[in-house]
Amino acid sequence: MHPTKEFTMEHNIIIHNIKAIEILEQCVEIYPAAYNAKPWNDNWNIQTAKALLTCYYNTPNFMGWAARRNGQIIGCAIGNMEPYYSGSIFILKELFVAVNCQGTGVGSGLMAVVKEEVKKLDLKMIMLFTRRPLFDFYIKSGFQEMVEAGTMVYAIE
Ligand SMILES: CC(C)(COP(=O)(O)OP(=O)(O)OC[C@H]1O[C@@H](n2cnc3c(N)ncnc32)[C@H](O)[C@@H]1OP(=O)(O)O)[C@@H](O)C(=O)NCCC(=O)NCCS
Repeated sequence: MHPTKEFTMEHNIIIHNIKAIEILEQCVEIYPAAYNAKPWNDNWNIQTAKALLTCYYNTPNFMGWAARRNGQIIGCAIGNMEPYYSGSIFILKELFVAVNCQGTGVGSGLMAVVKEEVKKLDLKMIMLFTRRPLFDFYIKSGFQEMVEAGTMVYAIE
């Protein structure tokens, strides 16, 4: 989709495209702990996380970025490009940072790269699902709440 490129951020962080499933598998390692903690309190393990991220990887027009410090994967942003009536948009499916690296600018660094990259592709919007406790993080990255929108679920008995 786009050439491999590296972005050098503060604190020795390098962010690069995820161009191979092997890179995504390294991201899987940090996924369960990130989402098994507050505010999500999920119950992921390596197998279920791998299934989810592999599913996203196989989505048409997948795009992903990994953040590394000293060679170690410490964060990941993944999603896909989708057509929309007003032009293509980027659906950010996952953004997560290793628990021991949270609060050090990795997430906002990844978001800055995502925004820069999708702008170059002339995409018109980034859309994502999140929960209220995360709103401050996204608002600080320039996002706005779609107040008239919401998520509905139907529980299968
Ligand atoms: C949410 C997450 C991606 C943020 O990444 P991060 O590297 O920890 O955040 P940063 O250090 O870049 O923080 C940037 C700013 O957002 C704020 N922020 C970060 N996480 C926040 C949170 N959970 N709630 C409110 N504000 C938050 C920081 O305080 C910081 O503010 P400042 O610029 O005024 O200092 C990361 O904490 C994470 O992986 N959480 C678990 C998984 C998750 O919830 N992912 C998002 C799913 S929608």
